[in-house]
Amino acid sequence: MSPQNRAAFLDAAGTPLRIGDAPMPTAGPGEIVIKNAAVAINPLDCHMQDHGVFVQQWPAVFGCDVAGEVYEVGDGVQIFKKGDRVIGHTINLVSGRPQDGGYALYTVVPADKAAILPDAIAFTDGVVVPFALEAAVCALSVKEPGEALPGVAIPNLGLPLPSFDGATKPIGKVLVVNGGSSSVGSMVTQIATAAGIHVITITGAHNVELSKRCGAAQVFDHKSSSVTDEVVEAVKQTGLEFIGIFDAIATTEPYATDLAILEKLGGGHLACSHPPPTEVPENVKAGMIFAINDVATTVWSEYVTRALETGKLLCLPPPTIVGQGLEYINEALARSKAGVSGTKLVVKL
Ligand SMILES: NC(=O)c1ccc[n+]([C@@H]2O[C@H](COP(=O)([O-])OP(=O)(O)OC[C@H]3O[C@@H](n4cnc5c(N)ncnc54)[C@H](OP(=O)(O)O)[C@@H]3O)[C@@H](O)[C@H]2O)c1
Repeated sequence: MSPQNRAAFLDAAGTPLRIGDAPMPTAGPGEIVIKNAAVAINPLDCHMQDHGVFVQQWPAVFGCDVAGEVYEVGDGVQIFKKGDRVIGHTINLVSGRPQDGGYALYTVVPADKAAILPDAIAFTDGVVVPFALEAAVCALSVKEPGEALPGVAIPNLGLPLPSFDGATKPIGKVLVVNGGSSSVGSMVTQIATAAGIHVITITGAHNVELSKRCGAAQVFDHKSSSVTDEVVEAVKQTGLEFIGIFDAIATTEPYATDLAILEKLGGGHLACSHPPPTEVPENVKAGMIFAINDVATTVWSEYVTRALETGKLLCLPPPTIVGQGLEYINEALARSKAGVSGTKLVVKL
């Protein structure tokens, strides 16, 4: 007999999630079903709850990050078997199917957006990785043009994928990450560093050590009145080719800093986690990431597990465990909306 699935349903925008019985999902070709042991909260989930954005089917089940054990393997999936410990990035955002949402006891995940989680890493740590990882790879390595939203281009930095080799070979380029202590900013810092890129970040002063653990060569305080000049000087001193800026925060204040830095450095990429400023100079190539893209497939299959095993990929920012049970997801969403700093909110199941 199948176990009883349960999920956190959104019945209408702006309402609390309702915990209830849900159909038991099955794994289609190329998919796995994960019995979730931990799920993580992302700001996107807050937008989905409050405004119903991206919801295609009511009641909706969302949630992008899961960690747990493989419960079922679909046709054609070679790399996983029942019982494997895994992390996975759900695709409910594009599929709209409730069974693809993470806030449930059992969730369908494409096998090419999952990886074995080493035994030494707790589910509550591993679950901070998936969505941020795919966002980071999308920010750094997409080459082809495309749209994140109608009329909003995706960034095309076309940078190399992270290298598993112990000592990464520098590629002679420098990237600035604004919002380096955020989940996505931390992961962009880690993945860019692992691709041989020199990374300079901007964070809150209390998150300097976190950003350095992610690989940042230098970290500057976003509240410093001279942050623009400090970053510009640091970039110039590297003597490396300036790629541009990844802005994980993408609001008015960091955009002003980004544009001032880009002006002083002669332009470059401005890859953002939200639509970029409407007006940018001609020498600035601005775009918005969309964190579901096949560009990450190789990273999932060849990099994630080995890099987690060796400590090259760290589960950062560290989790804050809000509670155990689907019932805690409402509280976790409320805490996310109140703002987090240098952590990812996680619910154990
Ligand atoms: N387009 C996509 O596909 C995509 C994918 C993933 C995420 N996103 C978006 O990306 C954004 C970041 O997501 P996340 O999960 O990484 O967020 P998060 O971890 O919740 O972000 C929290 C961090 O924001 C930082 N912060 C706030 N204001 C800042 C400022 N003015 N300058 C620098 N840092 C600032 C804080 O840094 P300090 O405490 O150090 O100041 C804090 O550590 C969200 O808006 C999310 O919706 C978009």
